[in-house]
Amino acid sequence: MSTSSKGTALVTGASSGIGAVYADRLAKRGHDLILVARDESRLTALAERLRAETGVKVEVLRADLTDKADLKAVEERLAADQAITLLVNNAGAAGSGKFATADRDVIDTLIQLNVTAVTRLAAAAASNFVARDSGTIINISSAVGLLPEFQSPVYGATKAFVTYLTQGLREEFGASKVRLQAVLPGATRTEIWERAGQDINALDPNSVMDVDDLVDAALAGFDQGELVTIPSLPNAADFDAYNAARLNLAPNLSRRYPADRFKASSKAA
Ligand SMILES: NC(=O)c1ccc[n+]([C@@H]2O[C@H](COP(=O)([O-])OP(=O)(O)OC[C@H]3O[C@@H](n4cnc5c(N)ncnc54)[C@H](OP(=O)(O)O)[C@@H]3O)[C@@H](O)[C@H]2O)c1
Repeated sequence: MSTSSKGTALVTGASSGIGAVYADRLAKRGHDLILVARDESRLTALAERLRAETGVKVEVLRADLTDKADLKAVEERLAADQAITLLVNNAGAAGSGKFATADRDVIDTLIQLNVTAVTRLAAAAASNFVARDSGTIINISSAVGLLPEFQSPVYGATKAFVTYLTQGLREEFGASKVRLQAVLPGATRTEIWERAGQDINALDPNSVMDVDDLVDAALAGFDQGELVTIPSLPNAADFDAYNAARLNLAPNLSRRYPADRFKASSKAA
């Protein structure tokens, strides 16, 4: 059981990058922690540092989230542990190669990690949180999910899924006090680039954010009550305008008859 009044935060992908910084910031905010990833030695080193620096309880839960049994163990913990108040659904990977020539098993594994695990963990947390009418799910998505032009169709699609899932759950949870946030980082200096065989130093340095700045901005967005946080976006009204344009489509997205412009072409055929 947690001894922290903030409760326990379970952070996936806590062994490096964005997840490791979330673990640091959440410990400093007084959360006890459960750190999840595959690399147990890195998790243990982080846990020791955070215990020493902050005095919070930190548990290491080694799991490969693409392994069904490992994933199930994390789900069961999220669904049953009443001390857990926050899920940071962060573990993820990028890059699967060019679609037509990619190894389909690599694509499948990416989807298992970025979509299936994220969804199952969110569902497990929701089963716990909705029943208590409290708790928070933070899903780490990506700005690439808004940009098919980025030419990363599978990774981008997994992230579009994560943002949509978060927004859709907000609708489903209605007046529930369960909080949700999707975080949409742009390029952020972490190991994900090297792991995907890409060189982050080839990017314009002005387009790459430091990981500490990224997490601090994401948490500021959370504190401000945002559902969708884009840490680099200078003007929040731009995202509001994007949403307004999307909602303008809504009345015409489901109608009894096809639009007039399709009638002529069907006759010609
Ligand atoms: N960095 C960026 O430019 C950027 C931009 C937009 C969104 N994001 C998103 O941010 C999230 C975190 O990525 P990051 O940039 O911090 O990259 P990272 O440093 O590579 O961290 C990825 C984390 O996920 C864990 N992980 C990978 N595969 C796993 C598996 N099968 N099972 C369990 N854990 C696994 C890794 O730990 P182990 O290897 O120890 O398992 C690591 O802790 C991802 O969802 C990513 O899509 C990143």
